[in-house]
Amino acid sequence: MSGYYTVGGGRPLNGSLKVSGAKNAALKMIVASLIADGVTTLRNVPNITDVEITLKLCGELGATYRWTDDTTVEIDARTVNNHVIPVKYSGSTRTPILFVSPLLHRLGKAEVATIGGCSIGPRPINYHIEGLKQLGVHVDMTGKTAYCFQADRLKGNIISLEYPSVGATENLIMAAVAAEGRTVIQNAAIEPEILNLVGMLQAMGAIIYQDVNRVWIIEGTKKFRAVEYDVMYDRIEAASFAACALATKGDVFVEGAIQRDMATFLDVLRKIGGSFDIKPHGIRFSYEGELKPVNMETDVHPGFMTDWHPPFGALLTQANGISVIHETVYESRFGYVETLVSMGARIQLTTDCLGSRECRFTNKNYKHSALIAGVTPLRPGTLHIPDLRAGFAYIMSALIAEGESRIYGTEFVKRGYSDLIGKFRAIGADIDEVEENAD
Ligand code: EPU
Repeated sequence: MSGYYTVGGGRPLNGSLKVSGAKNAALKMIVASLIADGVTTLRNVPNITDVEITLKLCGELGATYRWTDDTTVEIDARTVNNHVIPVKYSGSTRTPILFVSPLLHRLGKAEVATIGGCSIGPRPINYHIEGLKQLGVHVDMTGKTAYCFQADRLKGNIISLEYPSVGATENLIMAAVAAEGRTVIQNAAIEPEILNLVGMLQAMGAIIYQDVNRVWIIEGTKKFRAVEYDVMYDRIEAASFAACALATKGDVFVEGAIQRDMATFLDVLRKIGGSFDIKPHGIRFSYEGELKPVNMETDVHPGFMTDWHPPFGALLTQANGISVIHETVYESRFGYVETLVSMGARIQLTTDCLGSRECRFTNKNYKHSALIAGVTPLRPGTLHIPDLRAGFAYIMSALIAEGESRIYGTEFVKRGYSDLIGKFRAIGADIDEVEENAD
């Protein structure tokens, strides 16, 4: 059921909240459980729509699953018998393509409907396809509507990714763990969420290690036992609440946040004059006085995460001076800007690379850099969420703006944030959800 949020803004957020498990680790670990020969138990799984969809997809493939408490799920992969990912799952999440590797290991084939783009960019899967081909997978198209993958046995190889794609790295790692011989993945992604997945695969029986310069080395093995494993905390959620604390001149303790995975974020936060305090079980973020502008760019890990960007963009409307954001991961991440401008923000987009270096989007006509002039008071409004992270930026902007805002598109936010309302209320936010067809 869709609905909207009502948000009363204009007051500082103060208090403490506990961050949930990471969406972008949990989804891949659910997929990886299909490689195991038994019942996998995943703990700290966030209760979000994307997880629910991914679990349903496991069910369609023949696996069974059940929640044993709010954040623990058991997945039994021994009954997987269907290699076709139903078309209804394509477009709604990015996970269908990741199921290819477990399906190839179990059934020797997989079929996935072509995956479309989304509001943050076209999001192709060419790196996945090319990498799988290099591991000996035969890839075909049926009627331009589905990719068919086939391989009796995958063979290790040296793969060099054109770009350190998170999904392609995860897919190829999951393919390589059961391939014959050694696979080397160069120019690979090394996000903490990938380390979480790798840790799980190693516990299951995989031989896998990281070398310098973005290299993963995997020695193929045959036996994968089911394990009990913890999903790491969501560092996107943690940083988003940190941005909220500062933007509303508040003071928020984010329980479960870990400095190691957020170092780049913390550096940028410090540059703008935000304060943080590393505690044994989390990080406290507080406003200590006027915020300064910054020049920053998003990048693959260990750079500033692209998913931290929209809330941070909203925060920079409250910094005194002109800030620059250069987005280098997605072509169209600035979809949130028009709405912020309608609320009073002063933001100008450009196709130029305004960072310290050129990026993949140089001379490509994508508006992927922004100049943000602050401090601008924001006005409340009626907002329509275009994507998950923009959704958080809108709620945050509504919390900055004095007065009441109405925000449509709650379904986008529920894809990636567990109990968002509860967390916001825990830090004193005036936020409510109204079902569209309520009386
Ligand atoms: N790309 C290609 N070809 C490919 C794969 C990727 O051109 O075959 C491009 C993409 O279009 C994009 C860039 O490479 O411009 C990065 O894509 P990547 O593959 O790294 O992203 P992903 O695996 O599809 C995950 C997260 C995203 C997060 C990115 C970057 C999940 C489920 N999604 O996506 O999270 O932004 O990595 O860190 O893990 C979100 O949580 O809101 C979200 C979008």
